[in-house]
Amino acid sequence: MIPAVVISKKRDREQLSNDEIEFMIQGYARGSIPDYQMSALAMAIFLNGMSEQEISNLTDAMIASGSRLAKVDDTPRVDKHSTGGLGDKTSLILAPLLACCELHVPMISGRGLGITGGTLDKLEAISGFKTNLSESDIESQLRSVGCVITGATDTLVPADKKLYGLRDVTATVPSIPLITASIMSKKIAETLDALVLDVKFGSGAFLATEALAEQLAASLMRVGKNAGVKTTALITDMTQPLGEMIGNACEVDESVEVLQGGGPSDVRELTIELAARLLISTQCETNLDDARLRLSRLLDNGAAMERFERMVQAQGGSLSSSRPLGKSRRFLASHSGLVSSLDGQLLGQAIIAMGGGRKIAGEAIDFSVGIKMHSKIGESVETGQALLEILCDDESASDQALRLIEQAIVISSSEKTAQGKTATALWRDYSSIEN
Ligand code: URA
Repeated sequence: MIPAVVISKKRDREQLSNDEIEFMIQGYARGSIPDYQMSALAMAIFLNGMSEQEISNLTDAMIASGSRLAKVDDTPRVDKHSTGGLGDKTSLILAPLLACCELHVPMISGRGLGITGGTLDKLEAISGFKTNLSESDIESQLRSVGCVITGATDTLVPADKKLYGLRDVTATVPSIPLITASIMSKKIAETLDALVLDVKFGSGAFLATEALAEQLAASLMRVGKNAGVKTTALITDMTQPLGEMIGNACEVDESVEVLQGGGPSDVRELTIELAARLLISTQCETNLDDARLRLSRLLDNGAAMERFERMVQAQGGSLSSSRPLGKSRRFLASHSGLVSSLDGQLLGQAIIAMGGGRKIAGEAIDFSVGIKMHSKIGESVETGQALLEILCDDESASDQALRLIEQAIVISSSEKTAQGKTATALWRDYSSIEN
C-alpha cells in the first residue's frame, strides 16, 4: 500500500477500508509512516470526517498497536472518562468510592490539557505519589486495593501517545473521529466491563456547546457499545467551575473533604451520579436511587476515604502532611448585583499565568497555586464582597491573574439583565436518550 494514496482518498472524501486504516496506524506506531504523512492524514480526517465504521476501525487499529490490561479475576472492571473541565476532581473520589462496592477501577488518566487540569497533576500534588505504574503494578494494586489512578504505560495504545502529540501541534485535536478513537482506544484497552462518560460543555470545558457535547457523546457511546463495553454518558454543564477549588493541591484538599462526607454539593452530586451509572451497568444495583444511597453512605461513613488512603499509600504517597498552598489574595466585587458569568477559559488562563498549569508541554507545575471561588452564577453579591481568592506566592504572576479574573467575572446590576444567566442543570443523562 502507498501512504500518499490512502491520504488522497480521505482528502477526496472517500471512505478508508479497514486494511488502509490499519496500514497507516501500525506503520505510524512502528515508525515506517513519518510524522508528515500522518499529519496530512489527520488533517484530511479533521476536514472530511469519518463514517461510524471508519471510526470503529480506527479505534481497533489504535488498540492493536499495543497490549491490553489483563483481567486479574472475575471482579467487574469499570472506569469513567471525563472530557475535562475546570475544577473537575471527580476521578479522585469516584475511583476509591467504586472500589468500596467490590468493583475494580484501573483508571488511566492524563495531564492538564489546555485550560483544564489533569488528574495526574492533581495527584502529584500529594507528596511521593507515583503516576508511572507498570502493567504488573496496576494488576497487583487492583488485587490489593481495587483501584489505581496512573498514567498511560508505554505498551498501552502507543499509537495514541504518538498521534496525540502530533495532533496537538498540527491543529487537529478538535475532530470527533480522532477524539473518539483516542479516548475509546485507551478505555477499551483497560479491558472494561462498563464505562461512564462525562461529556462536558461550556466555557470551562473544551467543547463550547451542548450540541457538540451530544455529538461526541453519541460517537463515544457507539464505539463503546460495539466493543462490548456497557457505556453510558452524562452531558454536564461547565459554564462555571465545578466545586469551589481550581488548582492542584487545593483540588486534592477539596476531594478529601468530599471523601469525608463534606465538600461542595455539586462535586458530591456529580461524582455520585457518574458512579451510580456504573453500579447499574454492572448490576451491582438495579435502580438509581438505591445506587445513589449506597454511594452517599460510603462517603459519609468514611469507607471511601479509607480506600483513598490505601490507594495513595500503595502508590507511594502520603497524606500525613498538609499540602502547601500559595499566599491568599482576595478579589472583591466592584458593584453589587447578580453573578451572571464566570468565564472558565479566562479563569483557567489565570491558573496558568500563576504557574498552576502548563504553557508548553512538559513544563513543571506549581501545585500550591489555585483559585477558591466564593460566589457562583446566580448568587447576589454586594460591593466589596470577596468573589474569590487566588492562591499564589509570586506577586507579579498574581497581578497578571487578577487582570484575567477581572474580565472573567460579570456581575449584572439588575435581576432583569441577569435573567436566563442563572446556573442551568449540572448534568443530563444522555444514555437514556440514546437507548
Ligand atoms: N482526550 C483524549 O484522550 N484524546 C483526545 O483526543 C481528546 C481528549
